[in-house]
Amino acid sequence: MCIFLFIILNIFEFCYIHLHRIFFYYGIYSSMKNYLKSDKDNSKLVIGTLSGTSIDSVDIVLIRISNCGIQTELEVLKYRQYPFSKEIKDFVLKCSSPEQSNVADICKLNFILGRLFSDKIDIFIKEAGYSNSDISFIGSHGQTIYHIPSDENYFGYSGKSTLQIADASVIANLTGITTVGDFRCADIAVEGTGAPLVPYLDFIMFNVPDKNRMLVNIGGIANLTYLKADCKIEEVTAFDTGPGNMIIDAITRKLYNKEYDLNGDIASSGKFSKKLFEYLCNVDNFYNADIPKSTGREYYGDDFVNRLLAFSENIEARDIINTVSEYTVYCVYSNYKNHINSLALPDEIFLSGGGVSNNFLFKTFSKYFTDSKIQIINKSGITPNNKEAVLFAVLANETMCGNYSNIRNSTGAQKNVLLGKICPVLNKDINK
Ligand SMILES: Nc1ncnc2c1ncn2[C@@H]1O[C@H](COP(=O)(O)OP(=O)(O)O)[C@@H](O)[C@H]1O
Ligand SMILES: [Mg+2]
Repeated sequence: MCIFLFIILNIFEFCYIHLHRIFFYYGIYSSMKNYLKSDKDNSKLVIGTLSGTSIDSVDIVLIRISNCGIQTELEVLKYRQYPFSKEIKDFVLKCSSPEQSNVADICKLNFILGRLFSDKIDIFIKEAGYSNSDISFIGSHGQTIYHIPSDENYFGYSGKSTLQIADASVIANLTGITTVGDFRCADIAVEGTGAPLVPYLDFIMFNVPDKNRMLVNIGGIANLTYLKADCKIEEVTAFDTGPGNMIIDAITRKLYNKEYDLNGDIASSGKFSKKLFEYLCNVDNFYNADIPKSTGREYYGDDFVNRLLAFSENIEARDIINTVSEYTVYCVYSNYKNHINSLALPDEIFLSGGGVSNNFLFKTFSKYFTDSKIQIINKSGITPNNKEAVLFAVLANETMCGNYSNIRNSTGAQKNVLLGKICPVLNKDINK
């Protein structure tokens, strides 16, 4: 009898210990199955999200994507921008300024934005007619609050650094969707500048055998990607060119109390100031710097703008806006001349970013790039506004596939790396 009881107890103990493990591994398996989950045609639903350096909105896109690398096929299903309230925008700006920020505020903001992104993603998925369990994973860039693209030496360690917040673990656990976040750190760990990351998307989506193409994104900062016809990944050239809308926005805020120069109307009504233009060319050490290079609000933020305004005391407000707008396009052109011209003339230029809605910027592009066909980006549902959100969905897909997606030639990294941190959640509803 005792032996019988002993055997029964041992069986129970065995089951207790091992069932735990079996359930645990089944949980991980079903979660993996969820984010590697695909329909019969091998496609997955993936969300991409970010808030750019302009701090204008949380941008969210839903894409259907199949395969990865150059075999990637994608279709944009829905895109929306959820504008920041003025209070939040001001708080993000405060946290991004070394003079005004403090570590407690940054700590809080990381979680506030994590919650805000999660709320918007939940709303967005519902609006799109899906439920969260339909989504395989999210790629979230978060919000950059500081970026140091050149090596600084501290305590015997030298390197670059960057900080994107809106914690990916918060997003994963509140939405219940595995989230890949913090895309820039891996590249910086291997001596890259962590930016720009968009050339990967440009390469897999816009490379063609018979045309040289240049893609220019005019966000807060402007960047360009040059793809010669039939470009190999190691031949992609891409870098930040200087300000995009950032200086225009800052001056419009200060002089007109508006968030930006709607449609470029103020710039169009102003005149070009040669004196201010020459000042800009002289004081700006970024636009004519060597590549690889990247920049941000740290360089073209308040300090730069306040000095510019002090210099412009006798220049009319709309002439200042006109001239800094012209300067944005000039920086792209001058970088093209310095770093791309020798490669070959681009047959086509594809513009993207919020700056495309600024008619003055658009017209000025045509003035500088007379020999190329200039178009607004539009492919597979990728448009000027959603391109960067699509990028982070695609980069998350590459990471989940186990593909490297930094382009060493553009970031200066010593190695190819997998980008991002995966914050997994176990999907309990395994039948969906
Ligand atoms: N209708 C418009 N007219 C002029 N500028 C616009 C318009 N819409 C957007 N923008 C500009 O685009 C910026 C946002 O661009 P975006 O690509 O989102 O930049 P980021 O990636 O830095 O957030 C705004 O701050 C503004 O300067
Ligand atoms: Mg934006």
